[in-house]
Amino acid sequence: MITSSLNTTKSEEIFAAAQKLMPGGVSSPVRAFKSVGGQPIVFDHVKGAYAWDVDGNRYIDYIGTWGPAICGHAHPDVLKALHEALEKGTSFGAPSSLENVLAEMVIDAVPSIEMVRFVNSGTEACMSVLRLMRAFTGREKIIKFEGCYHGHADMFLVKAGSGVATLGLPDSPGVPKSTTDNTLTAPFNNLEAVKALFEANPGTIAGVILEPIVGNAGFIPPDAGFLPGLQEITREHGALLVFDEVMTGFRIAYGGAQEKFGITPDLTTLGKIIGGGLPVGAYGGRRDIMAMVAPAGPMYQAGTLSGNPLAMTAGIKTLELLRQPGTYEQLDRVTKRLANELLKLAKDAGHAVCGGQISGMFGFFFTEGPVHNYEDAKLSDLNKFSRFHRGMLERGVYLAPSQFEAGFTSLAHTDEDIDFTLEAAQAVLSSL
Ligand SMILES: Cc1ncc(COP(=O)(O)O)c(C=O)c1O
Repeated sequence: MITSSLNTTKSEEIFAAAQKLMPGGVSSPVRAFKSVGGQPIVFDHVKGAYAWDVDGNRYIDYIGTWGPAICGHAHPDVLKALHEALEKGTSFGAPSSLENVLAEMVIDAVPSIEMVRFVNSGTEACMSVLRLMRAFTGREKIIKFEGCYHGHADMFLVKAGSGVATLGLPDSPGVPKSTTDNTLTAPFNNLEAVKALFEANPGTIAGVILEPIVGNAGFIPPDAGFLPGLQEITREHGALLVFDEVMTGFRIAYGGAQEKFGITPDLTTLGKIIGGGLPVGAYGGRRDIMAMVAPAGPMYQAGTLSGNPLAMTAGIKTLELLRQPGTYEQLDRVTKRLANELLKLAKDAGHAVCGGQISGMFGFFFTEGPVHNYEDAKLSDLNKFSRFHRGMLERGVYLAPSQFEAGFTSLAHTDEDIDFTLEAAQAVLSSL
């Protein structure tokens, strides 16, 4: 067990109690710090680029509640809008004009989306889109990529990255084999493997779903030609191309990774940012495909809290902030500096390291690289990452507690925050 020089007495007390109340003491596995060791930090409050724990320690936060906090935590405009919305009630379970506003914003922004359905999480968005892929094509098989995470629905828990990778569970008990029999997997950035799957399964593959930039096996961008290649193959075989932009949507560009790379998939899933920190998800795409969704069409999918007025409000305000001129340039500039200088410091300290960034998403691996897929990512020195993570935490920098997660910056991260982070990194890297 790694000992800490931080005073985290209260965190430890609360987490010890939590472990008796909730499995592993958490509401979602990666938060428990299992893959980096040591105690997780119990948060008290968050603001801008910072998080404060229950012992009063402040951290520069590079997780941003796993992506949603792109404008900075608890942005005053979002809070103000939420206070006003709260007065009108917390849930309607009936149509509201807020849904129209956010739907229009999403449709305007994301090239592939002509119609959208709101749900409550990224998991729900992905499990619903999978049903839609099957309903539309009348085919049952799908292709996903090793290390890509599409939420915790049964049919996606095959080589699923994220917490599953972190915990070393290639699959989960409780997932019936019959549920994953139709889930085919290929290595990311490997078009030949995808072609081979289509050839071996003629006329039975509904489509291909992927994170257009992988964030759940660490940060892995697509090779040039990979996304256009997938579009070509899926079209050739009458299958659908689905981008899971739960993480990359409104982060890589206002229109997501699909805008950045100029590839328009048939369907897209969203989450995180479009709820501005409240629970949300969405799926959308071509109008003819979305017309299958109930009650317009026969594919059933529903939700008591879907289109929740508070989530819609936080999402609308967040997108309003993001569409201001210069936001993505700022995210890119700050994050580029962080990623480039971090890599340089690590190399100067003699470590094998590789990584990169696009817009406000970054990552690095303790291996020579290059990393094109999950197998390459697994060559990373995980023990070294754990020590780096703990060292940074002790110096007030909160990084994702797993080598297999991307990092996120926000519009609230300043050059001073980056200076502080790099100084901490230099000290830690020279001591590993
Ligand atoms: C790409 C991707 N898809 C789906 C999900 C699942 O979203 P949620 O955790 O909101 O269920 C995540 C979560 O991190 C994700 O990164």
